[in-house]
Order: sequence, then C-alpha cells, then structure tokens
Amino acid sequence: MRTALCPGSFDPVTHGHLDVIARAASLFDEVVVGVGINAGKNAMFTPAERVDMLREAVAGMERVRVEPIDGLLVEFCRSHGIGAVVKGLRSSTDFDYEMQMAQMNRQLSGIETVFLPTAAQWAFVSSTLVRQVSTLGGDIEQFVPDVVTQALRRRGTTLTTEGER
Ligand code: PNS
Repeated sequence: MRTALCPGSFDPVTHGHLDVIARAASLFDEVVVGVGINAGKNAMFTPAERVDMLREAVAGMERVRVEPIDGLLVEFCRSHGIGAVVKGLRSSTDFDYEMQMAQMNRQLSGIETVFLPTAAQWAFVSSTLVRQVSTLGGDIEQFVPDVVTQALRRRGTTLTTEGER
C-alpha cells in the first residue's frame, strides 16, 4: 500500500488544493490530507475548522482522508506509514519555498517529495488571496468549495471607510 501525504495549512482549502489532492489519489493507493501548522502564518480558521471543511470537501473522493498534523510533518509520516509527500507548485516562488521544505524533510527522515504542477486554471488562486478578497466583500465562490464559501460568508467582511476603525 503506497500512501501519500498532501500537507498544507488549508486556510481555507481551495479548488487548487482539491485538484492536487484528486491527482495525488490517482497516483497513490491512499492519500492522507494533513492539516499542519505553518508557524509563519496568522490563520483565519482554527485547525479543527480547517479539518472539518476539508473533510466535507473531500467526502466524494475515494481513498482520501483528512488528519491534523500536530507536530513535525516527518514524525506524522513515520507514525502513519506514509512514504511520500505530494505538493502542488504554482510558480517559481512556490518552487523556492517548497524545495527548501522538501530538502529539510528528506534530510530529517529520508522522505521523498513529489511536486505536481498546479492546473493552469487555479495557478493564481491562493488561500491568502481568497481570505483577502472575501474580507473585502469580493465573491470567492468560484475558487473554493461550497463549505468554504458558507464559512467565509459567516465571517463577513471587514470593510471600513477611510478614517474608520
Ligand atoms: O500550505 P503551507 O502553509 O505551505 O503548508 C506548510 C506546512 C503546514 C506543510 C508546513 O509548515 C509543515 O510541514 N508544518 C508542520 C511542521 C513541520 O514539520 N515544519 C517543518 C517543515 S520543513
């Protein structure tokens, strides 16, 4: 059984993420989507909220399950019998960031990382931009699954006029 990990912050999950997860599932016997903590990012949703949204978003995908990653990614892989990490690449900026993590993870544990080019359709979509557009009142429905659209609408907007707090 070859199991791959698709790790990320998923704050929130987008159609770009879901495309990579579905493609990973076509290459491996089983995919674990790991919701990790990125120490360098301020999250909008709690890890539990992100896991719940992802579970709903991947409910129709066979052999895919969602788990939180509480500590180191490589320890999670070791304890779950995971042999490879799969990540999507949108651009050369992603490449530089992902390459560094892939090399660190390989040095720590020997685990391999497989990069999949993001579908061109979603190459400009990021969780950061989705959060930004949504909090400023833009429509993000086309970029995210329904469960995320509903969650972002519940959060509302933080539109302010100049001088207002
Ligand atoms: O979507 P992101 O923010 O690129 O995901 C980054 C994530 C969560 C995969 C990364 O920060 C991670 O692996 N976190 C778990 C802790 C860890 O192992 N950090 C060292 C990575 S080399």
